[in-house]
Amino acid sequence: MRRLGCKKVSESVLENIRKRTELFISEGNRAPSLAVVLVGEDPASQTYVRKKAEAALSLGFVHFQYSLSADTEEKDLLHLIDELNERDDVDGILVQLPLPRSIDADKVIDRIAPEKDVDGFTPINVGRMAIGKEAFIPCTPKGIMETLRYYGIETAGKNVTIIGRSNIVGKPMALLLMQKGADATVTVCNTKTQNLKEHTLSADIVIVAAGHPGTIDESYIKDGAAVIDVGVNRIDDPSKEKGFRLAGDADYDSFRDRDVSITPVPGGVGLMTVSMLMENTLEAAIRRRGR
Ligand code: GUN
Repeated sequence: MRRLGCKKVSESVLENIRKRTELFISEGNRAPSLAVVLVGEDPASQTYVRKKAEAALSLGFVHFQYSLSADTEEKDLLHLIDELNERDDVDGILVQLPLPRSIDADKVIDRIAPEKDVDGFTPINVGRMAIGKEAFIPCTPKGIMETLRYYGIETAGKNVTIIGRSNIVGKPMALLLMQKGADATVTVCNTKTQNLKEHTLSADIVIVAAGHPGTIDESYIKDGAAVIDVGVNRIDDPSKEKGFRLAGDADYDSFRDRDVSITPVPGGVGLMTVSMLMENTLEAAIRRRGR
């Protein structure tokens, strides 16, 4: 087994952002700024939002945090987005998902100004990416592309199977991989897919973003292939201080004696998501330069 840890990859991305940010500021621009909106108290979301804040501050970005109660009304959230859209001192806006069920997430995302949409979730950015135009690319798929590049894992002419078709990972991942330059042959599986194994065993790269631990094990993967594990699942574990441990969607330990490359959880592509958000925020600031 080859462990594709993402700490070094993510640090090298952050180092590059740090240098570009210093240059940007030395040219007389103010520091890039990110506004993060969290609605409710989902513990996993709170952790993600904290990591995003820490990364932003470590790079010298300005960071605005809006923590709203779970019973926030949709119209009040939309009003906050309008305000952030208008503000000159805000370059990037991120609304942490999932939102409470009482709020229409699509409506909220659609309200974010596309030039501040550092998650790349608005219909404008999704559409632009789909036709290969300049766009903000969703952070997790963008981080996976960077990881594949870092480890020299070729995508051109390769079979890539993606398990999961979410708007956050599966769909944008498929679009990026099929684009000119990436040139992969892409299969996207979902919960109704018949004989999942047939699709994974023929793949050179399997990207698993199903949201369930144990979705695949070594028997799903052919020799020499790579597995990118996007899952972050909390497994009850009283022996841990927090009462849980993290596990991916792949059964990592089952790969020990196999000729397979695999990203770990934690320490895998989750780190890349945060780094890419910082890259998108810097991009947003550069594009809005002078405002
Ligand atoms: N929830 C899970 N992943 C993400 C992400 O990349 N961005 C946002 N905003 N919410 C998420």
